[in-house]
Amino acid sequence: MSAEMEQHIAKRRTFAIISHPDAGKTTLTEKLLLLGGAIHLAGSVKARKAKKFATSDWMELEKERGISVTSSVLQFSYKGFAVNLLDTPGHQDFSEDTYRTLSAADAAVMLIDAAKGVEPQTIKLFQVCKLRQIPVFTFVNKLDRYGRAPLELMDEVEKVLGIACCPMNWPLGSGPEFRGLYDMAQKKLVAFRDNREGEFGVEERWMPMGEAEEEGLISAEEKASLQEEVELLEGGGALFSREAVDKAQLSPMYFGSAMTQFGLRPFLDSFLSLAPPPMGRKSTQGWIEPSRKTFSGFIFKIQANMDPSHRDRMAFVRVVSGKYEKGMQAFCPRLQKEVRLTNPSQLMAQERTAVDEAWPGDVLGFYDTGIWHIGDALVEAGDFSFEDLPRFSPEHFVQVRAKNPLKRKQVEKGLKQLSEEGTVQIFERWNMGMKDPIVGAVGELQLEVLKFRMQHEYGADIVLERLHFSRARWVLGEKFEPTSFDWEGNRQTVQDREGRPLVLFRDEWAMEHTQSQHPELMFLPHAPMDTL
Ligand code: G4P
Repeated sequence: MSAEMEQHIAKRRTFAIISHPDAGKTTLTEKLLLLGGAIHLAGSVKARKAKKFATSDWMELEKERGISVTSSVLQFSYKGFAVNLLDTPGHQDFSEDTYRTLSAADAAVMLIDAAKGVEPQTIKLFQVCKLRQIPVFTFVNKLDRYGRAPLELMDEVEKVLGIACCPMNWPLGSGPEFRGLYDMAQKKLVAFRDNREGEFGVEERWMPMGEAEEEGLISAEEKASLQEEVELLEGGGALFSREAVDKAQLSPMYFGSAMTQFGLRPFLDSFLSLAPPPMGRKSTQGWIEPSRKTFSGFIFKIQANMDPSHRDRMAFVRVVSGKYEKGMQAFCPRLQKEVRLTNPSQLMAQERTAVDEAWPGDVLGFYDTGIWHIGDALVEAGDFSFEDLPRFSPEHFVQVRAKNPLKRKQVEKGLKQLSEEGTVQIFERWNMGMKDPIVGAVGELQLEVLKFRMQHEYGADIVLERLHFSRARWVLGEKFEPTSFDWEGNRQTVQDREGRPLVLFRDEWAMEHTQSQHPELMFLPHAPMDTL
């Protein structure tokens, strides 16, 4: 490996923040960017109130609903590190998109609201991280407000999520009694300062507890109670182990307040030193190390119309190995074709900037004319693909009709593009073609997004007629007779865009009943891989 490559890999970190809506992910994202000097917009709360949104919130719908529907990628530098922050959507319906985004991350920061603890979406997203076995760092937020006792929160994370926690710092008080953070390794305290309007100009001062008491920053009682808790933690808590963190068996835990920007610097310093550098990925030809000489990467996300004024579509590539250089050629194994990778861009905080080179761990956005699929590999040398990105089986189905029959073309185009992005899956009635296609989605909200985007991006009003199916299964078996398999509302045969047959079932019962009557057939929750 060249020294240059070694240096770039060692100093790169690619991670995602996972949290339940409202835990403060947008605020934390903005403050981290601010800390990295990437944006100069202090006071995210004000900005949001003034209806200015974080760069990562793109779409109209997000603005209207205040939710983050898309995932974005932001890069900033901090103390010599090149940091790639992948933004994951916060709504529970977007687990599939989130899963894909997490497939591009090497670590996750789990954000928890100190008053609320572990929430449903935290659990779901954590499970995705667990599946991928990426290290998870916990940040307990909103210490400037009254919250639950830190020991109780730690206990909850351990019990509910089943991962041991190792506190890296510990808070003294909360809400108006929040006095500061005690660093477990340095054995020093930093007094709380509300810096919400500042720009991180002032270094926080770490001092021994005695000194903090002398300076009147904490009282004798507060000092005694903190000492007691720290002793308890040192005696009974999990010991820090780099290996256990790497293996996703131990979560380093930090406390702070994103809004007031307190505790973010110590968190980021520690996180960047502990989080793993870009990791390799499994491929059809074994493990691909980031240090491999030649460039390789995979598309984990496709996003159309990110910028309504440009009407573009972008494919996001996570660089796995080697160096990307502007204009280089890469081979796409699915297409069995060489393609030129031109005009990539990276999102540097507020703006997209053109990039001339990229290293393992980086994410590149390429303008896509419609040739890419999610999961596509791009390799400079060789002919291999990366491990498949899982697709979740849809559970909500609708028949889509254009309100205005003259807009059928736009509807078809929109559906095709949105399905390539992975927002929804399109099916057709067996042998009926695209006439009134059926759309399947993992979550209800995706259907709402579909309707909204069809109208705003493709100028087509659509009517969604609900179909009472809740399961989709691809069928394998030579004796399968698609033309006579329908069963009055209980099941219906359709085909996917590749022409593979699948059956929609009304419910679990209909599915089990069918399986027991047709032991010769296999019903798969995902498309059979060998035919992909
Ligand atoms: P999300 O992206 O995870 O959904 O959360 P977001 O950052 O939008 O934060 C949700 C709410 O929590 C916001 O308040 C935000 O100001 C607040 N918040 C975030 N971090 C902290 C913190 O450290 N301390 C306190 N006290 N509040 C925090 P909001 O009322 O929904 O929005 P706004 O009206 O303040 O803009």
